Amino acid sequence: MNSLSIITPDDWHLHLRDTPYLEAVVADTARQFGRAIIMPNLNPPVRGCEDALAYRERIMAALPPGCDFEPLMTLYLTDNTRVEDIEAASASPFIHGAKLYPAGATTNSDFGVTDLSKLGRVFEAMQQHGFMLQLHGEATAPEVDVFDREKVFIEQSLERIRRDFPELRIVFEHITTRDAVDYVRAADTNLGATITPHHLLINRNAIFQGGIRPHYYCLPIAKREQHRLALVEAAVSGENRFFAGTDSAPHSVPAKESACGCAGIYSAHSALELYAEVFDLAGDFTHFESFMSRNGADFYGLPQNQGKTRLRREAWTLPASLPYPDVGLIPFRAGEKLHWKQVVDD
Ligand code: NCD
Ligand code: ZN
Repeated sequence: MNSLSIITPDDWHLHLRDTPYLEAVVADTARQFGRAIIMPNLNPPVRGCEDALAYRERIMAALPPGCDFEPLMTLYLTDNTRVEDIEAASASPFIHGAKLYPAGATTNSDFGVTDLSKLGRVFEAMQQHGFMLQLHGEATAPEVDVFDREKVFIEQSLERIRRDFPELRIVFEHITTRDAVDYVRAADTNLGATITPHHLLINRNAIFQGGIRPHYYCLPIAKREQHRLALVEAAVSGENRFFAGTDSAPHSVPAKESACGCAGIYSAHSALELYAEVFDLAGDFTHFESFMSRNGADFYGLPQNQGKTRLRREAWTLPASLPYPDVGLIPFRAGEKLHWKQVVDD
């Protein structure tokens, strides 16, 4: 097979940052995707509807002219999120969920939730309004091994949330383990999961290949090969609970290449092509369109995109670096070869 044509895909988990970084990255996503769920972890975070709508306006203003990309906004849950915030957000056509960062879990999570029991009324309101919960599923207690954080979160937190709020719609984001794949499969239809291109392509060895490789460091951290294989199997299976979410998370070169480097991998530059690489390596494109373009929209209760997006088999080399204010941005797989390329009509 040398060419593919699929319904225009969506990215169900994306970091766009804010001006002036936003302007440097948004066109990459808009070129490949019809819509994206926009993460609210700005500093300060996107906590209320007004913040989300103002951020949406900044994104719209940063888009290349004539482009019909649609940002799907989210709220950032804190210990102080009010039921009224949820009610207002769920009534907005622009806001599509609320994101739970356990405090301290990752970049800009300091405002995150310190104790799940504080969110009882908020979860109840979300459940009642069918408003999506997007979950960064990692336990944050310092004694938990970094490679076990997702598994421990399932046992200690996710299981409890689902027991107490059985009708709550949840996206378990950027899953990285066989445990998470098994858990999502065994759960009812209110639980879905996104999978990133990098967790489908690398295991934890990549972070330490011949030296420490900060551009392969993200959270949740990449796991062992057996976990990567479980993720590939889930993505390629076409099962409707698994869908694409890049977690593309740009950080400047100095912020990554530092004694205490930031977590985050920038994959938006060639996200669709990276996902195509995964399905190609697995030798099975049967469910590529479902994973990229159908399952997420169905899970979110949104219509599938109208347009089509094409790819062709073509070897090409990713740039070593991309423009980013002041410094530069290193994309995932910088300088390496990919074997599928998006066909962009003039
Ligand atoms: C994200 C970021 O940089 O905002 N980093 C990451 O490693 N994925 C935050 C997040 O989604 O955890
Ligand atoms: Zn993220």
